[in-house]
Amino acid sequence: MKAAVSLTALLALVPTVLGGNFSLVQDFSGNGFFDGWTFYGNFDNLTNAYVSDAGTAIIKVDNTTFVPYNDKRNSVRITTNDYFTVGTVWIIDAVHLPFGCSVWPSIWTKGNDWPNNGEIDIIEGVNQMTFNQMALHTLTGCSAATGTDETGTSGGNDCSVAAGCTVIENTPNSYGQSFASNGGGVWATQFDVTGIFIWFWGRANVPASVTSATDSLDISTWGPPSAAYPASSCNIPQFFGAQQIVLDITLCGDWAGVPSVYQSTCGNGEAVNASSCYLDNVINNGTSQYADAYFELNYIRAFSVNSTAVVGSDGTPVTSTAGGSPGSPTSSGSGSSPSGSGGSNDNNNNNNNNTNGALVGGVSPGRVYAAGVLCALAWVLL
Ligand SMILES: *[C@@H]1O[C@H](CO)[C@@H](O)[C@H](O)[C@H]1NC(C)=O
Ligand SMILES: *[C@@H]1O[C@H](CO)[C@@H](O)[C@H](O)[C@H]1NC(C)=O
Ligand SMILES: *[C@@H]1O[C@H](CO)[C@@H](O)[C@H](O)[C@H]1NC(C)=O
Ligand SMILES: *[C@@H]1O[C@H](CO)[C@@H](O)[C@H](O)[C@H]1NC(C)=O
Ligand SMILES: *[C@@H]1O[C@H](CO)[C@@H](O)[C@H](O)[C@H]1NC(C)=O
Ligand SMILES: *[C@@H]1O[C@H](CO)[C@@H](O)[C@H](O)[C@H]1NC(C)=O
Ligand SMILES: *[C@@H]1O[C@H](CO)[C@@H](O)[C@H](O)[C@H]1NC(C)=O
Repeated sequence: MKAAVSLTALLALVPTVLGGNFSLVQDFSGNGFFDGWTFYGNFDNLTNAYVSDAGTAIIKVDNTTFVPYNDKRNSVRITTNDYFTVGTVWIIDAVHLPFGCSVWPSIWTKGNDWPNNGEIDIIEGVNQMTFNQMALHTLTGCSAATGTDETGTSGGNDCSVAAGCTVIENTPNSYGQSFASNGGGVWATQFDVTGIFIWFWGRANVPASVTSATDSLDISTWGPPSAAYPASSCNIPQFFGAQQIVLDITLCGDWAGVPSVYQSTCGNGEAVNASSCYLDNVINNGTSQYADAYFELNYIRAFSVNSTAVVGSDGTPVTSTAGGSPGSPTSSGSGSSPSGSGGSNDNNNNNNNNTNGALVGGVSPGRVYAAGVLCALAWVLL
């Protein structure tokens, strides 16, 4: 009988063990998706960011306004007020990503002092690309180790160069029309002292450990990631501070608008120049392809092994009220204030004064959020 009692006691522990050792620390989903984000630039009185009737978060390029030549088209850039420390895994569940000629979306993270505190590009693509591209951006001294167990293809090891240490996704349907047609998919990014690792699964292959994760997450069965940046060649705490999440959609700019890049998937047989991206797409009523220039997200969640995973821009732990179920949103409730800086990332479209005349929006005076009052800003390269 004693043995039976012990077994019962042992079995009682099993659910905890199976639950995984990463605890939910933040949940952006449902009607509260936009709580806890700062809208860069002006308030969005055009509602380019909203929660759909289905409960998904929509972040889109304005495709209804007539834009005269030399003006910019509205888009959206939002940043979490919370920063997340080493030890965190972010899960991003998307059903649609922005794509189309001139469109350059990204979901990425950055420290409070770019580039000193690093940047992780989780989702990024331009124009009619058919695959996602990942990258890290750091100061000199961090690189992507060669010969790592990753399923993506390395595009360069030095994380301090302008393009960063890129990895191209090889799993099918990671971006563009095919991503949407297949019901989207899920990214998991582990920001850990042992390295930075990014996984991607198309909708049909999302593991049960992800779809069933509520209060905790178990990552032990995921297998090799798409992109692996082990600490063996990049001291993570040295090059990365706590990270905040950024979502944005740029039009044209230093990647989508570069003539050779633009030509490769959007050339229509005519000569392409530095103004083609803007002239062909942005002005007038805009390209009809802006109908696909939107994020549709089920949720973004953060899980962590770190008991003080959620911090403000100064690194001070803040109280997270995470733990709500989808549709019962949570707010960071943090006292963190936005840095007010868009950074100056030459690769990642937060260079607010780029040499070609991108619009510079005024930073909103406060972190005020009210339903339907958001902020929008366009980055359009002339
Ligand atoms: C999570 O727990 C597993 C054992 O169940 C362990 O191998 C792993 O190192 C833990 N991960 C972290 C980040 O603590
Ligand atoms: C949005 O606000 C700007 C000024 O902030 C104003 O010029 C514009 O008319 C407003 N648009 C709408 C649709 O309310
Ligand atoms: C938790 O975060 C702090 C601050 O970034 C860091 O020093 C510590 O190593 C983290 N703990 C774990 C287990 O990753
Ligand atoms: C650049 O290309 C666009 C078409 O993409 C064309 O309308 C424009 O006239 C060109 N500009 C110059 C300076 O060649
Ligand atoms: C823009 O759309 C409006 C309304 O459909 C139309 O009247 C106008 O001709 C269009 N302008 C251009 C330059 O395409
Ligand atoms: C604008 O985009 C939405 C989807 O985001 C689409 O339903 C709508 O038809 C587009 N409008 C125009 C005028 O193209
Ligand atoms: C951008 O340039 C304008 C004009 O030169 C300047 O007033 C503004 O402060 C600059 N903004 C940033 C973010 O550097």
